Amino acid sequence: MKDNKVVLITGAAGFIGSFLVRKFLGSGYKVIGIDDINSYYDKNLKLKRLKNIKEYSIVKNSSWSFYKISIEDKTNMQKIFLDTKPQIVVNLAAQAGVRYSIVNPYSYVKSNLLGFSNVLELCQSNDVKHLVYASSSSVYGSNNEYPFSEEHKVDTPLSFYAATKISNEMMANAYSNIYKLPITGLRFFTVYGPWGRPDMAPMIFADKILHKKSITVFNHGNMSRDFTYISDIVDGTYLCCLKVPKTSDAYQSGDPSILHRIFNIGNGNPVKLLDFIELLEDALSLKATKIFENIQPGDVASTYASTQNLEKWVGYQPSININDGVQKFAKWYLDFYQ
Ligand SMILES: NC(=O)c1ccc[n+]([C@@H]2O[C@H](COP(=O)([O-])OP(=O)(O)OC[C@H]3O[C@@H](n4cnc5c(N)ncnc54)[C@H](O)[C@@H]3O)[C@@H](O)[C@H]2O)c1
Repeated sequence: MKDNKVVLITGAAGFIGSFLVRKFLGSGYKVIGIDDINSYYDKNLKLKRLKNIKEYSIVKNSSWSFYKISIEDKTNMQKIFLDTKPQIVVNLAAQAGVRYSIVNPYSYVKSNLLGFSNVLELCQSNDVKHLVYASSSSVYGSNNEYPFSEEHKVDTPLSFYAATKISNEMMANAYSNIYKLPITGLRFFTVYGPWGRPDMAPMIFADKILHKKSITVFNHGNMSRDFTYISDIVDGTYLCCLKVPKTSDAYQSGDPSILHRIFNIGNGNPVKLLDFIELLEDALSLKATKIFENIQPGDVASTYASTQNLEKWVGYQPSININDGVQKFAKWYLDFYQ
């Protein structure tokens, strides 16, 4: 039994967070979840994910506690850290979305900069053994060398969202250096699957196709994404949580005394947006009406992850191909929304 092991996961009601919570519950961990259940997208979806977690924790006879608070609320966060004493902290809470960062940049300052500073500070002052946090493929900005590798420079963000994620990597590096705090940063590449985010293309497209509304295809379809299925993301993230960086593990360039590692976590198989739409049309047995438009400000045309470093680190091997992943997503979507 691992019931003395405690993991604290922020963003637990979110898409990735809710699956990661379940992964830990199934592995015998005591799990503490934090989320402010904000209204960036449908709160009901977040509440239903939490309901699933609760039911799953009963089936697994595992300990699950949830706190509805914001990571900016340092006083209450500190109380939770003191009460629960997590060894592993996973920070997934963030204001996500590239386009919304043009509309409401301050929301990103609050969650991604102030909130993340709190998480770092609480980890260093509460003897946390390992912090894992969400970065993003968007940090590669205008980089046009493919596949994206962790060795590439990330100093040309194209959106404010990406700028906050690069900032998180810098902040984590400094905390790891000063406090010798082991930290792992994961650059997620376009995660999709059941219980996904309604602000992302798969959900937007599915909704519009089913309601016979036209879908907008940006950059006239000349886009590709390294779509990565949720279970691959969660399995890789879980393995990273259990592997704590040590100085002897250092293989990335830079100072090996800094216990901060950053990895891409993607599929390594970019898919053209128009091909993705075709797969979705097949899965839904409906045709989409497409409107072609220019690329949106802040967007990048293509993403493609090199996952060699993560493979060496934890044996990461994505196993769900795009055909199967879209089928699974569409099946869930039809069951859930219709
Ligand atoms: N899904 C992707 O494709 C993707 C890609 C790159 C990076 N990421 C990053 O991964 C993480 C998880 O993404 P997701 O897709 O699950 O997003 P999500 O929006 O579904 O989950 C984030 C959760 O955090 C909560 N939250 C936001 N701000 C908060 C705050 N200040 N305090 C407490 N809770 C807060 C939200 O209510 C939400 O439930 C985010 O950091 C995101 O930026 C996701």
